Amino acid sequence: MAQIRNILILTGAGISAESGIRTFRASDGLWEDHRIEDVATPEGFARDPVLVHRFYDARRTGALAAQPNAAHLALARLEREWAQAARGSVTLVTQNVDDLHGRAGSKGLIHMHGELASAWCAACDARHRWMGTLIDAPACPACGKAALRPDIVWFGEMPYRMEEIYAALREADLFVSIGTSGAVYPAAGFVRAAREVGARCLELNLERSEGSRWFHETRLGMAGQLVPAWVEEMLG
Ligand code: OAD
Repeated sequence: MAQIRNILILTGAGISAESGIRTFRASDGLWEDHRIEDVATPEGFARDPVLVHRFYDARRTGALAAQPNAAHLALARLEREWAQAARGSVTLVTQNVDDLHGRAGSKGLIHMHGELASAWCAACDARHRWMGTLIDAPACPACGKAALRPDIVWFGEMPYRMEEIYAALREADLFVSIGTSGAVYPAAGFVRAAREVGARCLELNLERSEGSRWFHETRLGMAGQLVPAWVEEMLG
């Protein structure tokens, strides 16, 4: 196998499952008992902002109470020790909107679907670190208008920092996908972009993802076990 220097890791809801945060497509296509189009689209927000704020306020409270698990901690360790040994780069891209990677110590982290801990002003475009609620229509600290929305990328909106992600993908020797069903694009297409540049592709997931056939290797199991074991292998 060619020497691995640059690693791009994509994570999804499965990595936070063992921290007690529910995944999206667990059973019946409902998400915490809501239809995705009601709580994860700009149209849903325009129709019923109170419902959407209540939904994300509850998610924010839940995420802040959760703790990073062994998988989050292992990825932070990989980033740290890979850099210390000057072996190359580790780019961590997450579809998750919780802050568990950050609290586990990951630094070069890209939240491509936004963050619960951020509020975005529809009036002046400012973004603010946000730990409180939005349902009570607080004033934007920058412009004073009550126009804050969750800083979450909804269906029909453009994910964040895509140019950076594709630049890192072009340089990647190894692409690792963890805890994601591969149902939502553009993230679901990263594996093929990685293959095109000749990167090795590894999937760590509870079950085979929708794009499983594109990976060179799939390891099935719980992220809390698979990820620390894989990190140990990389650093060993
Ligand atoms: P999904 O809920 O679609 O998929 C979670 C995946 O994690 C599934 O394949 C599970 O089998 C796997 N899984 C569950 N528990 C696990 C565990 N303990 N260890 C390892 N794997 C486990 O979540 P995502 O793929 O992240 O978008 O969903 C992608 C996007 O769809 C989300 O970011 C969200 C959603 O709509 C936005 O909010 C914009």
